[in-house]
Amino acid sequence: MHVLTILDHPNPASFSAAVAQQFMDGAKAAGHSVELADLHAEGFDPRWSMADIAADGSSTTLADVTKEQARIARADAICLVFPLYWWGMPSMTKGWVDRVWTWGWAYDQLDDPEQSLQRSRSGVLLIPAGARSDEMENAGYLAALETAWIKGTFGYFGFAPRRLEVLYGSTGSSKRRQLLLAKSYQVGLTLAPPQRTE
Ligand SMILES: Cc1cc2nc3c(=O)[nH]c(=O)nc-3n(C[C@H](O)[C@H](O)[C@H](O)COP(=O)(O)O)c2cc1C
Repeated sequence: MHVLTILDHPNPASFSAAVAQQFMDGAKAAGHSVELADLHAEGFDPRWSMADIAADGSSTTLADVTKEQARIARADAICLVFPLYWWGMPSMTKGWVDRVWTWGWAYDQLDDPEQSLQRSRSGVLLIPAGARSDEMENAGYLAALETAWIKGTFGYFGFAPRRLEVLYGSTGSSKRRQLLLAKSYQVGLTLAPPQRTE
C-alpha cells in the first residue's frame, strides 16, 4: 500500500513528530511505501477563506487544496498524527480537514457516514494526549471523539476501516513515551488494507 501520514506539529523534535516517524517506520517494515505531509513545515494555510467559499461547489479548486487532494488520491491508507488540544483537533488539522475534503470531491450528502465519493482508504488517527485512559473514558471524552471523528467525519471521507488510537499519558515518563512509540510502530506494521463499504 501507499501510506500517507499527515503530521500536525510545529516542532520537528516533538513527541507527535516521533510518533509519525515510528508509524512510518512500521509501515515501511511491513513493505508499504510512505509519504509525509508535514503541514507546519510546508506552511499549509488552515484558514477557511473567501477563496474557499468562492471555490465551494464550483468547478475550480484552489492550488494548495489541489496539492493535498493529489496526495490523498495516490494513497491507499492515511494516518493523521496530531496532539489532542481541548478534546479536539488543533487548528492546523481542523483547517486541513475543512479545506481539503471538499463538498463534491469527498462527499455530496449528509445522512450516511458510510458513503463517500472517495474510494475506501484504510484510516488511522494517532493522537497523543496528556490524559489517562480512565479520565477520558469516565468523562465521556472518548465516546465524544468516536462520535465526532469515527462516525461523523472520517466515514464521509471513505476511511474504511477507521481506527482511533489515543496515545494516553503522552506527557508522562520516558518509559511511558517509549511504550507509546512502540505502539505507533506496531500500528504502522499491522495496518489493515482498505475495505469496501458497500
Ligand atoms: C493547547 C493545549 C491543549 C491541550 N488539551 C488537551 C486535552 O484536551 N486533553 C488532553 O488529554 N491533553 C491535552 N493537551 C496535552 C497534549 O495533548 C499533550 O501534551 C501532547 O503530548 C502534546 O503533543 P506533543 O507532546 O507532541 O507536543 C493539551 C496541550 C496543549 C498545548
